[in-house]
Amino acid sequence: MKIFIDSGDIGEIKEAAQMGAIDGVTTNPSLLAKAGKPIRQAIAEICEVVDGPVSAEVLSTDTEGMLKEGRELAKLHPNVVVKIPLIVDGLKATRVLSSENIKTNVTLCFSPAQALLAAKAGATYISPFVGRIDDLAEDGMKLIEQLVTIYGNYDFETEILVASVRHPVHFVQAALLGADVATVPFKVITQLAQHPLTESGLKKFLEDAKKIPKD
Ligand code: E4P
Repeated sequence: MKIFIDSGDIGEIKEAAQMGAIDGVTTNPSLLAKAGKPIRQAIAEICEVVDGPVSAEVLSTDTEGMLKEGRELAKLHPNVVVKIPLIVDGLKATRVLSSENIKTNVTLCFSPAQALLAAKAGATYISPFVGRIDDLAEDGMKLIEQLVTIYGNYDFETEILVASVRHPVHFVQAALLGADVATVPFKVITQLAQHPLTESGLKKFLEDAKKIPKD
C-alpha cells in the first residue's frame, strides 16, 4: 500500500519525506488555509520536496471552471493530480481531464455508487472519507471493503485512496483490505512508528550499555 501524507504543511511534509515514509501528498482547501500560502505557491513547494503524486483541489463547482483550474494546476508540475469534488459537474470535468491525460483524484466520496461513477469517468484515484463516515456512527472501512470488491469485479484501474484517516487502526485496516493508497496526517504517520515495547526495550538497552566495559 502506498502512503501519502495528508497535509499542506511543508515542515511536516519534509520530515515525513526524510523518514522515507511517503509516496505522495494530498492537500485540500482546509489544509492549505492552515498552511497560509497561496495555492500555487504551496503546491509548487510541495512538488520540490516529494517526488510523487501531489493532489491539488479545484475550487470551482462548475465543469468549465474546474477544467480551467485543473489545466492550470496540472501545468505547475508533472506530479500534480487535480482533485475534483464528487458532484455531477465534477464527474464531467474528470472525464475530460482524463481524456487529456491529466491525473485526477475524485474527492468527498461517501458511497459505493459514487465511487463506481468516478471510475467510469476515468478517475485516477477515488478518495472515500472513512473518518467522516465514522463521525456519523457508521463504519467508514465498510465502504473501503465494498470498493475493493466492486473495483475488483470490473477491473477498474482507478486506485482506492483511503482518506480522512484518523488513527493507526484505519491505516492497518486499509492495508488488510488491499486499498491502493492511504493518505495519512503527519501525527498518525508518527504514531505508526511508535510502540511502547520499542521505547522500553531501547531504554533498557541504553541503561545496560552503560555497564559494558570501555575499550
Ligand atoms: C484528503 O484527501 C482529504 O481531504 C482528507 O483526508 C480529509 O480528512 P478529514 O476528514 O480529517 O478532514
